[in-house]
Amino acid sequence: MNLSIVILAAGLGTRMRSKHAKVLHRAGGLALVEHVVGAARELAAPERIVVVTGHQAEDVEALLRPQGVRFARQTEQKGTGHAMECCRSAAGANGLLMVLYGDTPLLSAETLMRLRDAQVESAGAATLITTVLDDPTGYGRVIVDPQGNVNEIVEQKDCNAEQRAVNVINSGIYCFRADVLWKHLSEVKPNPISGEYYLTDMARILRCHGQVVRALHIDDPTELLGINTRIELAEADTILRMRKARELMLSGVTIERPETVTIDPAVTCGQDTIIEPFVRLLGQTKIGDNCRIGTGAVLESTVVEDRVSIGPYTLVADSHIEAEASAGPFARLRMGAHVGLKARIGNFVELKKTHLGAGAKSQHLAYLGDAEIGAGTNIGAGTITCNYDGEKKHNTKIGKHAFIGSNATLVAPVEIASDSYIAAGSTITQDVPEGALSLGRARQATKPGWVAKRRAKKKTEPA
Ligand code: UD1
Ligand code: CA
Repeated sequence: MNLSIVILAAGLGTRMRSKHAKVLHRAGGLALVEHVVGAARELAAPERIVVVTGHQAEDVEALLRPQGVRFARQTEQKGTGHAMECCRSAAGANGLLMVLYGDTPLLSAETLMRLRDAQVESAGAATLITTVLDDPTGYGRVIVDPQGNVNEIVEQKDCNAEQRAVNVINSGIYCFRADVLWKHLSEVKPNPISGEYYLTDMARILRCHGQVVRALHIDDPTELLGINTRIELAEADTILRMRKARELMLSGVTIERPETVTIDPAVTCGQDTIIEPFVRLLGQTKIGDNCRIGTGAVLESTVVEDRVSIGPYTLVADSHIEAEASAGPFARLRMGAHVGLKARIGNFVELKKTHLGAGAKSQHLAYLGDAEIGAGTNIGAGTITCNYDGEKKHNTKIGKHAFIGSNATLVAPVEIASDSYIAAGSTITQDVPEGALSLGRARQATKPGWVAKRRAKKKTEPA
């Protein structure tokens, strides 16, 4: 039987107290609704998935458009029942129609498949997922008869004392027979308290028409967590981050304190790599085998090849570090920095758009921006490439096996050829040819006995 999926994602999410649509808030490195779309796509082709958007519709649609899903607009948010009306023409008229809420990011495709199969096997008009919560506050309560058929769903605000004590909750995940849903949806009336149209009223409406609504009970409520507040957002983030950490550990990565690391879903990490506590691996970062990532390091969209050591508190973004190289502690690499094979970057060194050749070193306190540095070159402590003249950026080129003395100031554009030698403390404004020594500093003057002479002079002066 063909299956279409509707994802409701139009609400603002008042309880988030935010100016952004709730489904755009991120947990586990993705927007809430991206997780739901990801699970849905494992069951249906993207053109059979309709996302109902409303609040910040343009942003939500821009985020999801690359996935190929379709959209329906709910311009005024008048409740989940009304949101369904808005996608009547976009969603399938026949077969099965699954309805998901965009604020349940922990949902797995396996659970959705169980729901679909339960509805396929059922003679009823709909199946919905329920679970039991110790604290059901905020969720709709599901009232079932002894046969396990759903009589009705009562929203928290509408519960009497007896209903409030029920801890079987509505997860907001349904699978309907599409024709029956569309036939009766218009019978949903605005709620007398909130004025909203509740999709949950469909349970009672279908039952009144003699249709059967089944509950599929799930023991572990974790997956069904709906995000309404930032507290629940943090809970979901913790669970999703832990899922990713476990996946990496099972694939052969050591994570010393898994509950402290933040690893985005697309990150890959090779065998026997060790991740120390409080590391953040973000975006499209790819890490090779046998690396060590030091505590507090933040790597974003960066490629790290095998046997690399990243020292503690090192920040790397959009960069590439070749095998057996090292960076940090306290280094910063950004905007296409490239560290060659076995090269070494030490503490308080910043690389911006700079290519460091194989085996080259910059071990302490340097700024290397817009520079090309050859293999085996040593950059002394305190070296600065002066790449900005106040208007434009300029390049510095340093050849192979050069030696740049400590505290050199290289005023770009400038070229320093291979095997050359720059004296410590030099300010270099002109190109240096191969094999040359270049000094660019004031000559030292020493005055013997100067201190004693000054003291004697001070004593004879009147106070
Ligand atoms: C809803 C259910 C409740 C269930 C809970 C599970 C209803 C009436 N209640 O309550 O029974 O226990 O989910 O998490 O359905 N949305 C729209 N348009 C609207 C309103 C909401 O698209 O006009 C979307 C929201 O963006 C959100 C989803 O529907 O993704 C659920 O809305 P929300 O307000 O969070 O419903 P709950 O109060 O959590
Ligand atoms: Ca919710």
